[in-house]
Amino acid sequence: MELTTTFCTLTLKNPLIASASPLTGSLESIQKLEANGIAAVILHSLFEEEINHEMHKIDYFLHAHSNSNAEASSYLPTELDFDNLQSEHYIEEIRRIKKAVSIPVIASLNGVSIGGWVKYATKLQEAGADALELNITYVPTSIDMEGGVVEQIYIDTVTMVRQHITIPLNIKMSSSFSNPANMAKRFVEAGADGITLFDNPTRVDVDLELLTALQRANITGSANGSETLRWCAILYKKLSCTLCANTGIHTGEDVLKAIMSGADAVALASVLLIKGEGEVKNILNEVTDWMQAHEYTSIEQMKGSISLLHTDNPAAYERNSYMYALQHYRR
Ligand SMILES: Cc1cc2nc3c(=O)[nH]c(=O)nc-3n(C[C@H](O)[C@H](O)[C@H](O)COP(=O)(O)O)c2cc1C
Repeated sequence: MELTTTFCTLTLKNPLIASASPLTGSLESIQKLEANGIAAVILHSLFEEEINHEMHKIDYFLHAHSNSNAEASSYLPTELDFDNLQSEHYIEEIRRIKKAVSIPVIASLNGVSIGGWVKYATKLQEAGADALELNITYVPTSIDMEGGVVEQIYIDTVTMVRQHITIPLNIKMSSSFSNPANMAKRFVEAGADGITLFDNPTRVDVDLELLTALQRANITGSANGSETLRWCAILYKKLSCTLCANTGIHTGEDVLKAIMSGADAVALASVLLIKGEGEVKNILNEVTDWMQAHEYTSIEQMKGSISLLHTDNPAAYERNSYMYALQHYRR
């Protein structure tokens, strides 16, 4: 059975990728994931704020001595002094993980501005990352900021990161745009080789003891994969990039549904956090058992088989399906 597929421009031995989470922040877990058959890992993110925090520390370090004797230029940090910083640790981890595993290792940057942090993309590439995933999460809180301005922030960030790397670039996008399909197209025009549909934002909650708002990491279930399936089906073969289904992929059946909708690969976080690295093997077995029972011989053969590619009027189809679902509900 042929399970190979593509993610960005990389060839993967099967469609299962470990999505960025604490599990992909440890070499031990990554090795377990590889032993259980995962095709690639996306590392836990390096956040813009972590990099900027360090830049501010450098800034402070530089200016703390600005009133000192000008001759004392040895106060100034050299490039080597930066090596102890926390984001340098991330880069070291990439080198260590790359030596220890043979599957593709995808670095992850999480940021939302066109500041100096973007140069870290180059460092991640130099450390050996096979690709870079960019997660841009920005919550616009100004009632005066129009949607187009928000969208441009995303596009400018992608353009800037693209300029710093030659390795494949994957954009993990939010579903909260007026037209996610158009945003995906613009990401590709800005240099993305792959689009992940979709990131899953944190969950806002209120702690009634502390009387404070807080955000929690959002653990999903299969039912959360609905928007992912919808937009994979809409975008199948519409863009010159790969599609990776993310959010709510927990079982072999979820993987099959995503591939048939139009995904090239799937990214898993919650299911691995809940059930552990060994679940990769179970999911792969479910996928291959189903394919065998239904006489499919390759992932390629299944891709997009229930997409909206050959639907004359996808918007009308979506509207009709929506109406039908609401009108035919039975208790
Ligand atoms: C505890 C936790 C930590 C996560 N950390 C990151 C991260 O560092 N960077 C990132 O882009 N996504 C992160 N995510 C999001 C996941 O990679 C994934 O996109 C999301 O959970 C949806 O996939 P799922 O339904 O398989 O969980 C995290 C998710 C969880 C639950």
